[in-house]
Amino acid sequence: MPAKILTMDDLDLENKRVFVRVDINTPIHPQTGELLELSRLEEAAMTIRDLDMAKAVVASHQGRVGRYDYISMKKHALSLAKILNKEVQFVEDVFGEAARNRIDKLERGEVLMLDNLRFMAEEAMEYAPRDAERTVLVQRLKDHVDACVLDAFPTAHRAHPSIIGFAELVPTCSGRVVAKELMKLERIFSIEKGPYVTVLGGAKVTDRIEAIDALIANKRADKVLLTGLVGLLFLKANGKFKGDLKVEAEQKLLSKAKRLLEDNSDNFELPQDVAVDADGARKEMDIAQIPSSASVLDVGEKTIDHYSKFIRGAGTVFMSGPPGAFEYDEFSKGTEMLLKSMAASFGTTIVSGGHLTASLSKFGIQDSIDHVSTAGGALVQYLAGKRLPLMDALERSARKWSQ
Ligand code: 3PG
Repeated sequence: MPAKILTMDDLDLENKRVFVRVDINTPIHPQTGELLELSRLEEAAMTIRDLDMAKAVVASHQGRVGRYDYISMKKHALSLAKILNKEVQFVEDVFGEAARNRIDKLERGEVLMLDNLRFMAEEAMEYAPRDAERTVLVQRLKDHVDACVLDAFPTAHRAHPSIIGFAELVPTCSGRVVAKELMKLERIFSIEKGPYVTVLGGAKVTDRIEAIDALIANKRADKVLLTGLVGLLFLKANGKFKGDLKVEAEQKLLSKAKRLLEDNSDNFELPQDVAVDADGARKEMDIAQIPSSASVLDVGEKTIDHYSKFIRGAGTVFMSGPPGAFEYDEFSKGTEMLLKSMAASFGTTIVSGGHLTASLSKFGIQDSIDHVSTAGGALVQYLAGKRLPLMDALERSARKWSQ
């Protein structure tokens, strides 16, 4: 743990109202709205348990505006209560009078969960530190919290008000999840070696493109093995896939992908074949055969074999974002086989993101990976050497409050 950051052990939190910014953004079942896996909640519980001398005000975002996973935190509060084996109060409010009253009424040892931070428009925007302090969210809550614990490592790359706004208004320290991540990553940095192989997938295409840029610029990606939606984007950029990707700002992303391919053609491997949905069944086909209307849900077997060779020969392998729609058995093969290649590799292995963390447990191979992190985009940015707003906030707070 770098000395310039305060930890929970550095602050006197006895009987204090503590704003605990966690990241319990969880995969949600598209039809039932149920929470699909609880790894982030289990991690957050480590920190909340250690706050039993305080009054914990737990806050997180969930999903993105307009998507099926943009839901209230009520279910999270119920799940957290089960994990902690104690009551977790819930208020259907973020910073209004209802929330502030409930915070002020908390007794020592009680836990209150606020509703989805992203229900407030400000929490979807990036700010400079002084502007974040001036947001309504921070201004309305600041006199109702005595300290802040930043524990949302998976959101560390977002300069959102709840992440960066409190640092110089109340003493702010790292939580257990952030401390554990930093310790593990320091160890990884001491043993990693090339060649560096990155396997990128999932649906967050904009994040992945930014990550590729950063990883290549910092020489952390000798090979980038593309899967998932980002794989299709690159196939479309070089004219091999004709379908509709249904992603926002597709043209902009396509030109970015094209430029990356032109400038770094040796760094990229693209899928050779895919599995598409044929009335619920898995149908494998080469890229040239994909009809533009097809629903592509996984990489195919040739791609799995080809990518596995790079994974086995790597000094360090990093995987972020699932290669396919792993939640359906027919389309989980790419995710399963590539993760198993990582588990069998002699290199240093890092797996990132809630979906892949859940898949590792499902396949029983989590102990064969050197570092498993529930963080996705934030971890990529960190590995690529980018400065994270959450770390910056912790450092600013330590400078202000440790004098
Ligand atoms: C994540 O799951 O990567 C974090 O919760 C951040 O979510 P976001 O990409 O929607 O900001």
